[in-house]
Amino acid sequence: MCGIVGYVGKKRAIDKLVLGLKTLEYRGYDSAGVAVMQDNHVIVVKDKGRINNLEAILDYDALNGNVGIAHTRWATHGIPSLKNAHPHEDQNKHFTVVHNGIIENYMELKDFLIKEGFKFESQTDTEVIPVLMEYYYQKDKDVVKAFKHTLDDLKGSYAILVITPLISNTILVAKKNSPLVIGEGSDGIYIASDIPAIIKYTKDFYFLSDGEKAIIDDKIRFYDEHFEEIKKQSKTINWEMDAIDKNGFKDYMLKEIYEQPASLKNTLNGIIVNNKPVQFVGFSLNKKYLESLKQIYIVACGTAMHAGLVGKYAMEKMLRIPVNVEVASEFRYRDPIVDKNTLCIFISQSGETADTIAALKLAKEKGAKTIAISNVFESSITREADHTIYTHAGPEIAVASTKAYISQVGIIVAFAIYLCDTLFGSNKDTNYLKEELLHLPDLMEEVIKNEDNYHELAKKMINVHDLFYIGRGCDYYIAMEGSLKLKEISYIHSEAYPAGELKHGPIALIDKGTFVLGIITDSKIADKTLSNLEEVKSRGANIVLITNQNIREEQVISIPDINPILSPILAIIPLQFIAYYVAKEKDLDVDKPRNLAKSVTVE
Ligand code: AGP
Ligand code: GLU
Repeated sequence: MCGIVGYVGKKRAIDKLVLGLKTLEYRGYDSAGVAVMQDNHVIVVKDKGRINNLEAILDYDALNGNVGIAHTRWATHGIPSLKNAHPHEDQNKHFTVVHNGIIENYMELKDFLIKEGFKFESQTDTEVIPVLMEYYYQKDKDVVKAFKHTLDDLKGSYAILVITPLISNTILVAKKNSPLVIGEGSDGIYIASDIPAIIKYTKDFYFLSDGEKAIIDDKIRFYDEHFEEIKKQSKTINWEMDAIDKNGFKDYMLKEIYEQPASLKNTLNGIIVNNKPVQFVGFSLNKKYLESLKQIYIVACGTAMHAGLVGKYAMEKMLRIPVNVEVASEFRYRDPIVDKNTLCIFISQSGETADTIAALKLAKEKGAKTIAISNVFESSITREADHTIYTHAGPEIAVASTKAYISQVGIIVAFAIYLCDTLFGSNKDTNYLKEELLHLPDLMEEVIKNEDNYHELAKKMINVHDLFYIGRGCDYYIAMEGSLKLKEISYIHSEAYPAGELKHGPIALIDKGTFVLGIITDSKIADKTLSNLEEVKSRGANIVLITNQNIREEQVISIPDINPILSPILAIIPLQFIAYYVAKEKDLDVDKPRNLAKSVTVE
């Protein structure tokens, strides 16, 4: 959560900071602020709300310094307000700080500092950082020592940037459990929470590991957790700029829905090849190990967890090994039964989700082999897992996940085929599934073509209070993801239910006109779900059916027929469009829905 940017170089820092913040706005948007080193003193400008508000009050001519830091906030401690907005400073204005994460022992530190006579302005946890630095600085007048002692005292998660007039050409950087990248461009050195903010200036990035620090002026010096200087290798990221532009689309979400066929092609590229065994770059699991497995866990949050459910469906069908899917925040605190005979798979688009990373660490401690599925190169989760599979969906900017979901489903099915091929050898069924996977992008294009129909349907839903999504088997998992999309961006309450479960309670909520979206993509259970739809229809519900079967209903969205294991990839598209257009018709900001942030780096 929250986005931070820093720049030290030859150019005016403020331009780099504002542009970087705009690219990172999806990470948090409660308030925003910048701090620029101007003739040996620091100017801080901040405001509540979106970055546009901040831009409106910036006097660019008065801010021409070459060193600066910036922040866009997703509040954890203290309401979104001007006072709580970052950057934060100590009273002597020696240290100016932006921070992403949570300082868990801030109350203890704050009490101590208050007793020592220091004053605080905000309700944030962050403010203890500059004040503590000032406390240590007053002791022995050494900025780097003050930084080191402060970091030693902090518990929790952080990516921190500090500027100080005491060494005015420098940014101090520290990272622990919050994302941070450093890029070396031709006109300066850039620091950001995420690659998109600075990809415009460089393709060469340094990724700090947890506990590492950097001191940056016209060069970068790296330090390990004991503050010993270390060398680090940069890594090249070859993203094209248009991957993070809207490219003429009204919103990122719409662009990303449209990108889905191409994303899936990228995901499967080199992994799924007709009639060839599935292969992953950099790792393989041997047959003996797979035979020792008693169970598989798939752990993730939100949409990624929904993709995991499709993985369960595919793996259990193909392998007959029990697969448990669990949200990471539950898994990590309930002492799950996991050992060396358990394979644990963790899915995370951002690779920075705090709960998912903690769950992975726990599984490792318990002796399980861990595999991360992530979309972000070198993200934290990839450095913790035994093996990583990248989804290669391209950068996803809209808070509501679309193309990342499709790629996660694609890769988890590919992984299920891989396990099956390794255990039992390639066979007719898995080869057919590979063919179907490769054909999916064309079928997705067909589904996308009916955008106008989905829009018309969405118009009918804008004033409803409740919506139900129902299905059985994999269709239920699609229902869960469809319902989440609607909630996130349209703020309409909706629930996903296994179709057969409705009559055990929720059917009491069905009234005249209640929308029920039924999903039927598996011929084997089509009649069952259809009966459940009839039950709600006879109680006045307004039915919309998404199906690949030949079923007559008043409001039907037809999608191409495919193996039920893969149907989520087609059936989710109309549901994404419906959520998108309901939100648009309500004039909401689809890319940055209220209270949410793209990357959930706190628990
Ligand atoms: C998706 O639309 C959501 N915004 C959210 O559920 C997301 O999928 C979840 O927070 C997990 O994120 P991750 O994939 O980056 O770990
Ligand atoms: N905990 C800090 C705050 O609430 C930082 C939150 C963030 O990462 O945006 O201000």
